[in-house]
Amino acid sequence: MKKNLLLALVVMLCCFTTLSASEFINLTPRPAMMTQGSGELTLKKGFKVGGKNLPADMKAEVKKFVESINATTSLGASAKNKGGLINIVVDPSVPEEGYKLSITKSGATIKASTATGLFYAFQTVKKLLPANVMAGVKGAPNASYRLPAVEITDQPRYAYRGFMLDVSRHFFDVNEVKKMLDIMAMYKLNRFHWHLTDDQGWRLPMEKYPKLTVEGATNQNILRTDFDQQRQWREGRGVAYGPFAYTIDDIKEIVAYAKDRHIEVMPEIDMPGHMVAAIHAYPEFSTDPESLIAKAAGVDMDSEPVAGKPDTHFTHNIWNIGGVSRDVLDVSNPKVIQFAKDVIDVLAEVFPYEYIHIGGDECPTYAWEKSESCTAMKDKLGLESHRALQAWFNKQIADYAREKHGKKIMGWNELITDKGADMELTKTMDPVIMCWVGAEQAAKLSQENGLKHIYTPHNGGYYINRCYRGIDKVGAVGDGSLSLTYNTNPPDNDLCIGVQGTFWSEQVDRDRDLEYQALPRLIAIAEHAWTPASLMNYDDFMKRAKADTEILDLAGYNYGRHQLTTPQK
Ligand code: ACM
Repeated sequence: MKKNLLLALVVMLCCFTTLSASEFINLTPRPAMMTQGSGELTLKKGFKVGGKNLPADMKAEVKKFVESINATTSLGASAKNKGGLINIVVDPSVPEEGYKLSITKSGATIKASTATGLFYAFQTVKKLLPANVMAGVKGAPNASYRLPAVEITDQPRYAYRGFMLDVSRHFFDVNEVKKMLDIMAMYKLNRFHWHLTDDQGWRLPMEKYPKLTVEGATNQNILRTDFDQQRQWREGRGVAYGPFAYTIDDIKEIVAYAKDRHIEVMPEIDMPGHMVAAIHAYPEFSTDPESLIAKAAGVDMDSEPVAGKPDTHFTHNIWNIGGVSRDVLDVSNPKVIQFAKDVIDVLAEVFPYEYIHIGGDECPTYAWEKSESCTAMKDKLGLESHRALQAWFNKQIADYAREKHGKKIMGWNELITDKGADMELTKTMDPVIMCWVGAEQAAKLSQENGLKHIYTPHNGGYYINRCYRGIDKVGAVGDGSLSLTYNTNPPDNDLCIGVQGTFWSEQVDRDRDLEYQALPRLIAIAEHAWTPASLMNYDDFMKRAKADTEILDLAGYNYGRHQLTTPQK
């Protein structure tokens, strides 16, 4: 009896010690299944990582992991062609992006069926180590690196786990884009949606249209914002912002950097609206190349377009602030159709993935209604409204992209939700619908019509450039808060293939303002993207997000600290 009592006491004590030593497993996104074991695995100097008969792509992951350990610690780890302290096993039964990770006092085993699954397992291991490892910063020479005993069986909730960056309103150079790809990889996001063009600037080089990246990439008198000083100002006329654009080599560098982190890059060329940068460079793409609408209204031809004064849009001057332009592509012009196809050719050459995003949002039909040739085309095609011209335009592009390059299209939800949108024709293109405005309704409509869709509600905290109420005095309108982002759940639709944190950059002046606005909310998006709905827990997330500031600080991110310290509504 006494012996049993003693045994029970010892067991209780062991459990207690185990729990207190490793009670807080700081993993974001939270794994699908996790059980804590007892004790820890110490990574000894010269420890080995490897497995028998690994395919080349898995060996490459092992090498990358070992390099990252050796860059951040003094452990001198090495890769091996057989099992090591961290033993890798190819297990075809593990889902494509999933992994199993078992850590005991004596060693760790990772099971995965693909290099991507193995990459995510290593991301988890790095996250379980001291913050400097994930941050990519060298720790003290005598620091010790231990992993908690744990059993994890993990896989993502969604195939599409996205972040969109608008590089038109503010141009982000290669280094800043890479910094955002790094944070995506830390949190297992896997799709970088690169919004390359808009009314405020064209950033994609096209040999056939050289003016796009000169005239189309330069603003005058742009609105600038400084979050730290909480002020906005204008530089004044004659002070140019740009020309800013990527080179083809820049793009290839980004695509390769992302691939190394198992992130696919999806380019967006927003058409047929949001095209003023291109029209500024090539006015013949407008329905009104001579600016007759603006001239008839007596508009000063040097003035900036003003959202509430539509006639000013037809000066074709590049926009300096946000808004929706009525000056859109002339879809009845064969040169415009050719231009759109040329865009697809350039994109297909440098982006090796399945989808091209063709935009489609916020395209007023005003210019088409005023245009004789657009109206004639609508009548010739027997279309019921000018709006239906948009689906017809999209169809030319979608067919070309599929037939010439084997690519599929994605677009904003106006493709199916605009009044007069041609659903039947749109369905023949099998687009993925990106649901942002009236996102619930758009997702429902997509589901009902058999269309895959992605959830990124602008007013549900997924537009991660929005202000945090009462705290940010400058920034985009809206009520962005971390709790709103975390507590807005994606629809329970089987055709919903993912979620996205979407970032518009009208209010960004310096790269650090992007980080201030987007972080930590992008991390909450990452948890929606990966973690089963039943495990989402805001209080638990906050605890982990606060702990992760150590990583963000070490890696030099200017995240919005106020999102973590101010009580959330
Ligand atoms: C959008 O926010 N206009 C897609």
